[in-house]
Amino acid sequence: MSKIVSREIRLASRPTGKPTAANFSLVHTELDPLQDQQVLVRNLFMSVDPYMRGRMNDQKSYIPSFKLGKPLEGGAVGEVIESRVEEFKPGDVVTSNFGWREYFMASPKDLHLVSHEFQPLSVYLGALGMTGMTAWVGLNVGEVKAGEVIYISGAAGAVGNVAGQLAKLRGCRVIGSAGSDEKVKFLREECGFDAAFNYKHGPISEQLKVAAPDGIDVYFDNVGGEALEAALSSLRIHGRIVACGGISSYNKAKPPPGPSNLFNMTAKRLTMKGMIVRDWLDHQSMFEKEVGRDFRVGKLKSKETVVEGIDQAVDAFLGLFKGKNMGKMVVKLT
Ligand SMILES: NC(=O)c1ccc[n+]([C@@H]2O[C@H](COP(=O)([O-])OP(=O)(O)OC[C@H]3O[C@@H](n4cnc5c(N)ncnc54)[C@H](OP(=O)(O)O)[C@@H]3O)[C@@H](O)[C@H]2O)c1
Repeated sequence: MSKIVSREIRLASRPTGKPTAANFSLVHTELDPLQDQQVLVRNLFMSVDPYMRGRMNDQKSYIPSFKLGKPLEGGAVGEVIESRVEEFKPGDVVTSNFGWREYFMASPKDLHLVSHEFQPLSVYLGALGMTGMTAWVGLNVGEVKAGEVIYISGAAGAVGNVAGQLAKLRGCRVIGSAGSDEKVKFLREECGFDAAFNYKHGPISEQLKVAAPDGIDVYFDNVGGEALEAALSSLRIHGRIVACGGISSYNKAKPPPGPSNLFNMTAKRLTMKGMIVRDWLDHQSMFEKEVGRDFRVGKLKSKETVVEGIDQAVDAFLGLFKGKNMGKMVVKLT
C-alpha cells in the first residue's frame, strides 16, 4: 500500500484567556507502514468539546494537558481500513480518542467497536457518545426522579439537550436556558422542555423565577457563574446540584469569585456533587443499552451542528465558546 498522508491539528502554543487559531497548527504527516497487532483507521467524524480548553493549559487536572507541538486528542468515529488483528476487520466502525487527525494506527485496546445500525455515525460522539453519557450519568448522580423540577443551563448544547430529553422521559418538569431565541425554540418545540429562556434577555434569577415560581429540585450545571448563582436562589430545601461543567469561566485568565449566595447551601441543606463521565466507563454498556433503546424507538432525538473538513476543526472548537452550535458540534472528515 502506498504511504498515507494524514492531516492533523497540533497545539502550537498555550493560550492565555480566549484561545485563537494561532494556538493551533495544521500539519501533513506520512504514516509508517502498519505493524503486526495494529489497526489502520480513517476518521469519519471528530468531536470538539469545551473540556479541551482546559487541556490546552499546562496544569494538573483530571485529564493530562495537551503537549506542545503534538497532535491534540479527542473523541472520533472512524472506519477500519486495514487490520492486523483478529478483533477488527476492514469496514468496521470504531470510536477512539484519536480525534483531530484524518488517519491513525492503534492497537485494539484503544478502539471500541460500534454498530452501523445508528446513523449518522456521528451520533456516537453526541447522544450515544460521551456527551449523551454525561447527561445520563449526571441525572443518575443527581438522583433525578419523576415529578421533580430540573433546571439545565447550556441546555441547547450536546449534554444539555440530551439531559433535558432524558429528564422528560423520567417524568420531570424541565426548564432550560440557552443563548439565542432559536435555541429556546428548539428546546421547547423539538426537545419537549416545559419552559426555556434566553439568558441574554435579562437576569437569569428573574427569568428562572418566572419559569419555576415554586422553585427547582435539581440544577444541572453546565455553565457556572450567573446561572449557578440563580439556581442557588431557586433551589428548594434538600435540592441538588449536578456540577457537570462551568463553561462561562473556561476562558477567564483569572477565575471570577464564587457565587455571592453560597450560604443557600447551608440554609437549604443543599447537595452539590461533581461528576466526570470517564469515572463511569464501566457503565458504558448499560448507557448504550438504555439510551440506545430510547434513540431506536424515537423517544430521544439527536441534534448536531456539522462542520466539514479538518481545516475547519479549530473554528468549530472556537465556535463552542461563541454559542455557534445547537446540539453536538461535530467535524465531518470525509
Ligand atoms: N463532567 C463531565 O464529565 C463533562 C463531560 C462533558 C461535558 N462537560 C461540560 O458540560 C458542559 C457542556 O458541554 P457540551 O459538550 O454539551 O458543550 P455544548 O453545550 O454543546 O457547547 C458549548 C455551549 O456553551 C454555551 N456557552 C459558551 N460560552 C458560554 C458562556 N460564557 N456562558 C454561558 N454559556 C456559554 C454556548 O451555548 P449558548 O448559546 O447557550 O451560550 C455553547 O453552544 C461544559 O461545561 C462541559 O465542560 C462535562
